[in-house]
Amino acid sequence: MISQHSVVSSITLNGTRNALNSINCSVADKLSLAGKVTVITGGARGIGLTLAETVAGLGSDVVILDVLQPEREISELEKTYGKRFGYYRMDVTSKPGMDVAFENAVKDFGRIDHCITSAGIALDKPFLEHNWEESRRLLDINILGSFFSAQLAAEQMVKQGHGGSIVLVASIAAHCAIPSQCVSLYGASKAAIKLLGKTLAVELAPHNIRVNTLSPGFTATSMSRQFTEIQHVFQTTPPLKRIGTPEDLTLAVAYFLSKGASYTTGAELAVTGGLHNGRIEV
Ligand SMILES: NC(=O)c1ccc[n+]([C@@H]2O[C@H](COP(=O)([O-])OP(=O)(O)OC[C@H]3O[C@@H](n4cnc5c(N)ncnc54)[C@H](O)[C@@H]3O)[C@@H](O)[C@H]2O)c1
Repeated sequence: MISQHSVVSSITLNGTRNALNSINCSVADKLSLAGKVTVITGGARGIGLTLAETVAGLGSDVVILDVLQPEREISELEKTYGKRFGYYRMDVTSKPGMDVAFENAVKDFGRIDHCITSAGIALDKPFLEHNWEESRRLLDINILGSFFSAQLAAEQMVKQGHGGSIVLVASIAAHCAIPSQCVSLYGASKAAIKLLGKTLAVELAPHNIRVNTLSPGFTATSMSRQFTEIQHVFQTTPPLKRIGTPEDLTLAVAYFLSKGASYTTGAELAVTGGLHNGRIEV
């Protein structure tokens, strides 16, 4: 019988060997995701869709899981990147539905190597006016939706036995109060994700599954565009004096997923134009 200890030791040894083998690799080789399958929740638009296109550009097949149809046609994405794309309708508030979507994705794509959890919603409302229903829904999508997506991906990675990489999308709101916005519960939900990244990194390390978190700052997507009256705040308050774009996030995620990051787990990267550090001008 193979003991848990020997499984862990052999995974650790393989990890060390991979790290040594990669010393002579080019940076492009270290970033390559060729032969991998990446699952992305919230991949139909915005940050998730840009990350889907990024990983495809690096050689990965892509599974988009979302309540919405992807904004770009699957066939057009496949033609652009020469990689397989799949879309499965999935609501992250329904565990039975998530089970089916992941099962179908594995049936069709054969494996899961990476998972990015980008599905999320925002709520900008004074603390004293939050009601139970909208608060419950936000926590279900942002926390439990990410938690169980990561769990389903990790279950499959453990079965495969070759490790994997998970990137959880948190937010600048996990770091500090936000200028001109009242996002107490949203921020709390994203702070939960930031900590989840650390705890899962430790718990899943014996399986060589790395878990890291990304905190975008103000980023030009449908989510930030809904706040029409404070667009000037998004443009002017970051120390780097502009709103971010989904493209600003791509290399951070490419790094976290890549074999070049084989010693990086439990890390958090805030890509906010500096805003999470504070402001000098008022
Ligand atoms: N845009 C920003 O300024 C910003 C800043 C910090 C963090 N974020 C985070 O980045 C992530 C992506 O946001 P975005 O800006 O791309 O927003 P977006 O609204 O463009 O995309 C969010 C995606 O999540 C999907 N989604 C929502 N509820 C879902 C559900 N129940 N089940 C499955 N999918 C669901 C949506 O359909 C959509 O495709 C979110 O987690 C968000 O909190 C965004």
